[in-house]
Amino acid sequence: MSRSVLVTGGSRGIGLAIARELKEAGDDVAVTYRSGEPPEGLLGVRCDITDTDQVDAAFKQVEEEQGAVEVLVANAGIAKDQLLALMSEEDFSSVLDTNLTGSFRVAKRAVRGMMRKRTGRIILISSVVGLLGSGGQVNYAASKAGLVGFARSLARELGSRNITVNVVAPGFIETDMTAELPEARQAEIKKNVPLGRYGSTTEIAKTVRFLAGEDAAYITGAVIPVDGGLGMGH
Ligand code: NAI
Repeated sequence: MSRSVLVTGGSRGIGLAIARELKEAGDDVAVTYRSGEPPEGLLGVRCDITDTDQVDAAFKQVEEEQGAVEVLVANAGIAKDQLLALMSEEDFSSVLDTNLTGSFRVAKRAVRGMMRKRTGRIILISSVVGLLGSGGQVNYAASKAGLVGFARSLARELGSRNITVNVVAPGFIETDMTAELPEARQAEIKKNVPLGRYGSTTEIAKTVRFLAGEDAAYITGAVIPVDGGLGMGH
C-alpha cells in the first residue's frame, strides 16, 4: 500500500536515508530541500521550515502530486554549538525556531489532512542529547527535549483519530559531521557508547520505517533511542 510521505530535510544525511527507506517500502516520498537539486527518484519540494508560508506551499505541492501527507517525518534540524556564557540570543532562538517551532509548523499543517482521513503517522527526529544533556549545546538540547513534550502532548490530542506521534532519538551517527571530528575525539565518544561504535543512517531509517508501518500501530508517545546504549536510563 503506498502512502504519501513527507520527510523534512530529506535531501541528505539521516533524512535522505529515511526517505529512501520509505520509498523502498513502497510509499510515495517527498523531501523538502532548500538549495541545489533534490535527490533522484524523490519528489523535491522547496521549503524553509522557519517560514509558515513556505511550509503551506510545500504541503500544497505534495497534496497535488501524491495526495495529503499520511506520514510526516520532521527531521530537518540545525546545531549552533557554544558555551552558554558566549552564546548569542540569536543562536539560541534560531536553533529553537528550526528544530522545535519548525516541527510545530509542519506537524500543524500535516494534521489537517490526517484528521480528515482519521489516520496518520508523525515521527519527530530528536537526539540523545535532548535527554542526556551536552555541554556547549543548551540550545540544541533544549530544542530536542522540547520535541519529547511536544510529541507526548500531540499523541494525547490525536490518539482518538488513529494518528500516532513518536520520537526517534539518535545517538552519534556516521555522517559528514561526525567523520570530521578529530580521531582522538571520535575514540573518546565511542568509549562511552556501550556498543562501541557510531550508528549508521540506515539504522535510524529502519526504525522510522517500523514506526511508520502497520506493526507499530499501537505505539504512540514513545521515545525510541537508537544510540548504541549511550543514553540509557532516561
Ligand atoms: P544534516 O545537516 O546532514 O541534515 C539536516 C537537514 O535539515 C538538511 O537537509 C538541511 O537542509 C535541513 N534543514 C536545516 N534547516 C532547515 C530549514 N530551516 N528548513 C528546511 N530544512 C532545513 O544533519 P543530519 O545529521 O542528517 O541530521 C538530521 C536530523 O537528525 C537533525 O534533526 C539532527 O539534529 C538529528 N540528529 C543527528 C545526529 C547525528 O549524529 N548526525 C544525532 C542525533 C540527532
